[in-house]
Amino acid sequence: MLVDVMARLTAAQLTGIVETAQQFFGCLRLQQYEGVPTMGWFSWFRRKTTSQTASLPYYVLGGRRMRIDHPYMLPKDIEESGRLDLQHHMLRLLLRGNYLAPIGHPQSILDVGCGTGRWGAEMAQQFTNANVIGLDIQPPPATSNAVTMGKAIAPDNYVFVEGDITKGLPFADATFDYVHMRLVVLALPAAQWGPAINEIKRVTKPGGWVELIDTSVTSRVPASEPWVEWAYTLASYRGIDMTAGARVGSFLQEAGFHNVNTMNLEIPLGSWGGRIGTLMATDAIAGARALETPVVMTHLATKEAFNAVVDKMAEEFNSIVGCTQPFYIAYGQR
Ligand SMILES: C[S@@+](CC[C@H](N)C(=O)[O-])C[C@H]1O[C@@H](n2cnc3c(N)ncnc32)[C@H](O)[C@@H]1O
Repeated sequence: MLVDVMARLTAAQLTGIVETAQQFFGCLRLQQYEGVPTMGWFSWFRRKTTSQTASLPYYVLGGRRMRIDHPYMLPKDIEESGRLDLQHHMLRLLLRGNYLAPIGHPQSILDVGCGTGRWGAEMAQQFTNANVIGLDIQPPPATSNAVTMGKAIAPDNYVFVEGDITKGLPFADATFDYVHMRLVVLALPAAQWGPAINEIKRVTKPGGWVELIDTSVTSRVPASEPWVEWAYTLASYRGIDMTAGARVGSFLQEAGFHNVNTMNLEIPLGSWGGRIGTLMATDAIAGARALETPVVMTHLATKEAFNAVVDKMAEEFNSIVGCTQPFYIAYGQR
């Protein structure tokens, strides 16, 4: 019952509840980033302990762990980390690398909403002279493979920083040569896109590059129609527009970036599309299943009805030749 009510609350209401509870129990978190030095900031972050996962406000239901204090719609658990890593490999394969912007030899790189940290750790390995920061609302799960990228055996030039793009980035103006933000369409409420891009612009050096990669969640096969309807209902509780990813280019233009380039890709969705198509379908089905708990909790569908729809989606992805998932890429220069 309590969880049911919580699932229907807006993000602002949830945040209010969590903050009130934290104040009540005397455990309001300290402002973590007070006193970040403008010189030597990278080693300052490396010295800090950022892993506070145990104290984060979660609920666990149906075996999936979700945050209750953020609009973010997807679980934050090991299963989801596996999906994100698979998706990362698929995108790297597709793009033949980790970025498209003409970034040259950046000295400082920021990845906003870094997930497992794999992208940032690989960039740190590729650009050994760069300091690379992965920022997310929480560190990667402790037992995930990816944690090795975010912590113990991560390259020395990579560090994870806990932060929330909607509350401002804990970095000085003009800190980074290159800022990357990928697949936050289920994380950013529609009203937060503009402020988030402006905040990213603030921390990017004049002449530095920003690259955004995202997707749009729409029905791709007949069987996915009920799933998309459920997802849109859940998104509406949080002010999220599941198609906002299609506008990454306009967001950069509106924020005043120069030399904006955009690219729209339609990625095959299903085994008929070879290796990429199989990876994309595996990713899409894992992503679809990740909403089972909130859909069932809010009585949009029973567990059985939900799973029947997702099973049928998987079948149609493989049998309807030509169905695709769009990805939108945009990069621009401050
Ligand atoms: C779909 S994942 C994508 C992860 C990574 N960018 C990738 O491409 O593998 C979205 C990530 O955004 C993070 N996130 C959600 N809300 C956020 C916020 N307000 N600030 C920073 N990160 C956020 C989530 O925790 C999650 O790791």
